[in-house]
Amino acid sequence: MDSLYSIAKDGYSHDPVTKPLRYCEIIEQAVREEDLAPKSILEIGVYKGESTKVFSRRFPDAHIVAVDLKLADIDFSGCENVRYLQCDQTDEARLRAICEEHFANGLDLVIEDASHIGHLSKLTFDIVFPHVRSGGLYIVEDWGSGYWETWPDGGRFTDCKVPGNTARIAKTIRSHDSGMVGFVKSLVDYTATGDIASDRAVARGWMSRLALSAARVDALRKLTERMPRLRAWLAAKLDKPVAAHAAVKVSAGSGLPQLKSLKFSRSLCIACKA
Ligand SMILES: C[S@@+](CC[C@H](N)C(=O)[O-])C[C@H]1O[C@@H](n2cnc3c(N)ncnc32)[C@H](O)[C@@H]1O
Repeated sequence: MDSLYSIAKDGYSHDPVTKPLRYCEIIEQAVREEDLAPKSILEIGVYKGESTKVFSRRFPDAHIVAVDLKLADIDFSGCENVRYLQCDQTDEARLRAICEEHFANGLDLVIEDASHIGHLSKLTFDIVFPHVRSGGLYIVEDWGSGYWETWPDGGRFTDCKVPGNTARIAKTIRSHDSGMVGFVKSLVDYTATGDIASDRAVARGWMSRLALSAARVDALRKLTERMPRLRAWLAAKLDKPVAAHAAVKVSAGSGLPQLKSLKFSRSLCIACKA
């Protein structure tokens, strides 16, 4: 089977809105690395249908649904495995209906190449990702637009100075907090869902804080060595998760999506579901 790249370069239009050929190489590599033979594909953002046709030829056994805000007059003849539908990437009810109707057994591959506006992409992710199968890929294109000053929610890259440098130390990196960059960074959380869920509770309140500080102060630690009951109390405070707090953490973590991996290659962000 020809690769996405070799199919795409055959008659490639070089239209700047269509995905660059190198993206096809990266997506092909990601699919091969996961040993994925996608049977269910959702493409969000179709434009003139060039990429949709490439996916159709590369994965002839897949059922492909390609959605766009505005339908264009695209000739999809020869692409019998493609359904071309109107859908806003933020229309929760419609996106869910599409997933339930077309992908009842889950999605193997999602390519989000629509608005490239961070909070819209986040909404789409939250709606669609639960429908992705374990081992499936969710690919976000062009997250680098988040660094473009001219982009609606973009912001110029600002460096974070390291301590020791005489220059002012930035507390936040503006370009990392918002837009597409902020969105893809938020996906990092889902690679740590296990840690979030099993977060050892740290007791709160002044008694617990005192206990924590005491354990860190050498003199107090020595003192407690001669006071077994105080030492036992401190140990209990430090070692035992506080039940109520732990329960909240567990349920917060277990409700989150889980990622097996999150990879960045050029302006593509590739999330693999655990
Ligand atoms: C970059 S183009 C897609 C290019 C295409 N995937 C390709 O590689 O040839 C972005 C497309 O997303 C669509 N789009 C923009 N905002 C959208 C939204 N809110 N929901 C769905 N599609 C949207 C635009 O109409 C446009 O056709």
